[in-house]
Amino acid sequence: MIHTPETALLRVSGVTVRFGGLKAVDDVSFEAYPGELLGLIGPNGAGKTTLMRAITGVVGANAGSIQLSDQDLTRLPTHQRIRKGLAFSQQLVRPFRQISVLDNVALAAGARHTHSPMKALLHTDSRHERDIARRMLARVGISRHADQMPGIQPLGVLKRLEVARALAQEPKLLLLDEPLAGLNSKEAATLADTIAEINRQGITIILIEHNLGEVMRICQRLVVLDNGRRIASGAPREVMQQPQVRAAYLGAPAESTEEHSA
Ligand SMILES: Nc1ncnc2c1ncn2[C@@H]1O[C@H](COP(=O)(O)OP(=O)(O)OP(=O)(O)O)[C@@H](O)[C@H]1O
Ligand SMILES: [Mg+2]
Repeated sequence: MIHTPETALLRVSGVTVRFGGLKAVDDVSFEAYPGELLGLIGPNGAGKTTLMRAITGVVGANAGSIQLSDQDLTRLPTHQRIRKGLAFSQQLVRPFRQISVLDNVALAAGARHTHSPMKALLHTDSRHERDIARRMLARVGISRHADQMPGIQPLGVLKRLEVARALAQEPKLLLLDEPLAGLNSKEAATLADTIAEINRQGITIILIEHNLGEVMRICQRLVVLDNGRRIASGAPREVMQQPQVRAAYLGAPAESTEEHSA
């Protein structure tokens, strides 16, 4: 498919987020196209999570706009952005500890229809939400933990629960913030396979990850941030060879500068 800004599912234009004097996200533009699995990478503190929060409306952007298909999300609160087709999983997993794994997902399914957590909690009685929840747990491979409490689950299950909660909102665009963090290499590879499978089933995904091996294996395209700015984008292998990307990851000056100082 030919990628032009007009065919984008998500269009981020000139987004800036300031925290006091710090520009955590500095005039960033990029697109995500329908069906894509797009990697959003960059060193610690690059602004990846903040950019994701600006897309989902958890933090306000000081400048710029965010569009999903032809809808302008820029001024909408998070629950309305979810209703329009966004869902996200967070870097830190925070399930409700007093209810089962299944009910955590059913709660998210209910939350799509109401932004009051209390009302969503009441909604989870409905068979419909539990049916959705069961399907999503199967999709991420943790059905056998459905009736257990989150507190006893290993991190690998909690990371999948977080993805299932996001999927239960039936998104067009799924944003995942470091789903592989803290997992061993085998667990990370199998969850990466699950994410690629969810993408093949038709959900567009933006994946924030530090595990570059898995990113290179499953992502079709990359956007790289450093110091709040977009420094590169394109095919994974080509992007990783660009000097400014290598410099950002090594924390060293770009090659040309090194030559001058040598
Ligand atoms: N709520 C906040 N208040 C003040 N500064 C913040 C806040 N959130 C993030 N920052 C700062 O903004 C910058 C970008 O942080 P952000 O968490 O977006 O980076 P990141 O790319 O997600 O990093 P990591 O890979 O470590 O998760 C950092 O300098 C961070 O300290
Ligand atoms: Mg982050």
